[in-house]
Amino acid sequence: MVKTDYKGDFPLLLQKDGQGRAIAYLDNAATTQKPRPVIDAVRTYYETYNANPHRGAYDISVRVTEAFEEVRGKVARFIGAADPEEIVFTAGTTDSINLAALSYGEQAVGQGDEILISVLEHHSNLLPWQRLARRTGATLHYLIPDESGRITAEEAAQKLTPRTKIVAITHVSNVLGCVNPIRDIAALAHEKGAVVLLDAAQSAPHIPVDVQALDVDFLAFSGHKLLAPAGVGILYGKKELLRRMEPLRLGGGIVEEVTQQTVRYLDAPWKFEAGTQNAEGVIGLGAAIDYLEEVGMPAIQEIEGRLTRYALEKLSGVSGIRLYGGGTGGTRTGIISFNIDGVHPHDTATVLASHGVAVRAGHHCAQPLMAHMGVNATCRMSLYFYNTEEDIDRLAAALKTVRGVLGLGPQ
Ligand SMILES: Cc1ncc(COP(=O)(O)O)c(C=O)c1O
Repeated sequence: MVKTDYKGDFPLLLQKDGQGRAIAYLDNAATTQKPRPVIDAVRTYYETYNANPHRGAYDISVRVTEAFEEVRGKVARFIGAADPEEIVFTAGTTDSINLAALSYGEQAVGQGDEILISVLEHHSNLLPWQRLARRTGATLHYLIPDESGRITAEEAAQKLTPRTKIVAITHVSNVLGCVNPIRDIAALAHEKGAVVLLDAAQSAPHIPVDVQALDVDFLAFSGHKLLAPAGVGILYGKKELLRRMEPLRLGGGIVEEVTQQTVRYLDAPWKFEAGTQNAEGVIGLGAAIDYLEEVGMPAIQEIEGRLTRYALEKLSGVSGIRLYGGGTGGTRTGIISFNIDGVHPHDTATVLASHGVAVRAGHHCAQPLMAHMGVNATCRMSLYFYNTEEDIDRLAAALKTVRGVLGLGPQ
């Protein structure tokens, strides 16, 4: 029988509050809960083979080194990379994009060049490019979303020029949940000779992602948004690009040889992994990928698609609600931003919290997008496959109380 209830695997989701309620956790775009196999993998590491990878000759150090490198292979398979050596372990999406911008970007971008990003970007995929443009004398240009919140291939075709050196774009908006047509955008970018970095923080956990099918040059995601511990993430880079890049952080574990005045670095990806690595995070990431593959990414996409349609229907029934972005099916994931007429989103989120419903309110680290939408902030619910229709019913019921609780009259 096909398993449909995953909450039992997530201890935090079973925990009851002082009023005997389990949390309706709808803030998965911020971070995800951890299933038992991930928690157990990290505990087993600490209890049985905690050691510094790539350092010792003794049993447990060899074991952790093997486990660490095995996860590199798992990540490569998970995102369809041709070679595990195209996978760099980082601290997360932010760290990955900074590495790409500072190392590849500083080398590839010069005075008069153009960097193309979109208005949808999380500040993590904006600020590193803004600074790169300032430092190099390049210009930062923006792709504008259409009414549904997507960046279309037509928009990309208009903004790409022979001077565009880098296109850095999110796969899925962390505010609107829309899925961008990356394969088409990447093909257009390559025609102009630009390199494409894909921010997959909100896609890799939710939909099948294949770097070769999409033909992106770099891809970044965070472990913690994908059931794994925080502090671990990935920068995928095509081999020839990683090979040409200088390491950013210099220190232990990245050299073939050092003399007083010279250094010969290891090959990629190891030259980018200076200092003691987050072995527990990487091992947790491996367990998270095993778990996700057991559920199946197509199944996850299917479950979330069904829940998203259910949520859109339920939320549409709340009077005074404004939903942002649009599109269903293949063009959006389970992130829905909304506001209630006349109510500050922080107040809405506070009332929801009193009902045991967890959502996020704020600008979601996407202030240029907020400005484009003409708002300062939104409330955002974001699903994962372990959510249920009951979570969404609780959200909708709590939303119906908001104006009354705040003394603003009936809803
Ligand atoms: C689209 C997107 N990019 C980047 C990030 C940054 O991820 P992290 O904070 O894990 O580095 C986030 C986090 O919310 C995100 O949603």
